[in-house]
Amino acid sequence: MLKLKIDPKVFNQVYLTHLLYNQRRYQIYYGGASSGKSYAMAQRVVLDVLRGRNYLVARNIQNTLRRSCFNEIMKAISAFKVDKFFEVNKSELTITCLLNQAQILFAGLNDVEKIKSITPLYGVITDIWIEEATETDYTDVKQLDKRLRGRSKWKKRLTLTFNPILQDHWIYTEYFGIWDDSKQFVDSEEQDLSILKTIYKDNRFLTKDDIDALENETDKYYYEVYTLGNWGTLGSLIFKNWRVEGLTEQVKSFDKIRHGLDFGFAEDPNALACIHYDRRRKRLYIFDEIYAGDLVNDEIADLIKPKVGNRLVVCDNSELKTVKELRLRGINAIAAKKGPGSVEAGIRFMQGLEIIIGTNCPSTKAEFTKYKWREDKNGKVLPVPVDKDNHIIDAIRYALEDEIGTAKLKVHNKNLWGVR
Ligand SMILES: Nc1ncnc2c1ncn2[C@@H]1O[C@H](COP(=O)(O)OP(=O)(O)OP(=O)(O)O)[C@@H](O)[C@H]1O
Ligand SMILES: [Mg+2]
Repeated sequence: MLKLKIDPKVFNQVYLTHLLYNQRRYQIYYGGASSGKSYAMAQRVVLDVLRGRNYLVARNIQNTLRRSCFNEIMKAISAFKVDKFFEVNKSELTITCLLNQAQILFAGLNDVEKIKSITPLYGVITDIWIEEATETDYTDVKQLDKRLRGRSKWKKRLTLTFNPILQDHWIYTEYFGIWDDSKQFVDSEEQDLSILKTIYKDNRFLTKDDIDALENETDKYYYEVYTLGNWGTLGSLIFKNWRVEGLTEQVKSFDKIRHGLDFGFAEDPNALACIHYDRRRKRLYIFDEIYAGDLVNDEIADLIKPKVGNRLVVCDNSELKTVKELRLRGINAIAAKKGPGSVEAGIRFMQGLEIIIGTNCPSTKAEFTKYKWREDKNGKVLPVPVDKDNHIIDAIRYALEDEIGTAKLKVHNKNLWGVR
């Protein structure tokens, strides 16, 4: 048995705590540039392989692997001074641990055949690390995930590292339901998933020049994504004034609870928003939601009753008959007033608030992530929202209708902008 003595100082603390021994099936390490993600993973790969794990390191394109992960891992091997325990095959891109025959294999996701046939000398692949995972397709990653079946004494793990380039990315939709913006690390036993966000400040090995370059970034998008490690958005999103937090504790103290309900038809869902509005602090909490399509009115009533109790539910006024039926079913439902300009007035009102979305409200979050202004053919942003991704948002607007009231007077006339 090899006994290695490693000074903990060779690691950045945040990765020592959350990455080095993490045993979750799905692990995400994302954030700003130069935050030490890749380096820390390379360190873990080497230590794990010395213990007998087999790694597959993948990127979208094979030829970028040699320059990135392969080199990083080679650097980690020599930094740990364990070169003599490894045999490196540069042309095949394989690294074999001579103590136990465990291997590090590399593959580009563009090479489907290779990915399918790749197997280590002994045992099975226990770990897959996908570097720059935002370059990959959903189906490729699902395919790799399937490869992590088969018996082994090791817990199988799929690890993704990347910069959060665009929020409508599939990775965000697939994994970030558990994310909480007030935290740096979120861990879900239920989903066997952990997410760590890091930025340059988490990497104490950077030079002053590296730090200056990141801090002096002048492009707003690059600053958000690469300096602050936040999910990127392009131009015309309507709401940026929101964040996601676990609200289970706070809910108990909410005393200004309101409900809004938007009716679905055809493809659209019925959307219920449960909110608490703190007028003094101008804070809006969305702490519960229902998002369900294809329901008859009785079913809507049964579904929302446990959440709304006897409290008022302000509904979409396009279906007065439904409102009436809900009342007959014991829901304290009334129709919203809406009227011309109410959508824009509601948006303006909500833009002036601090909006906090509960981690248990994935559909609300999805809408806030996507709700956009229309753009004309030259890309000029028009003050008219695209009529999509707005069901919960409409419901919130109904719930807040009496607060929005006066803001309506300042609304633009849509016709001035040549759109209907
Ligand atoms: N534990 C460490 N020991 C020594 N140097 C380190 C360590 N961690 C990071 N570094 C240094 O910091 C640099 C940036 O780290 P790394 O490349 O891992 O960041 P990253 O988060 O992967 O960045 P990007 O998002 O740009 O890919 C590395 O090239 C290396 O020089
Ligand atoms: Mg990196």
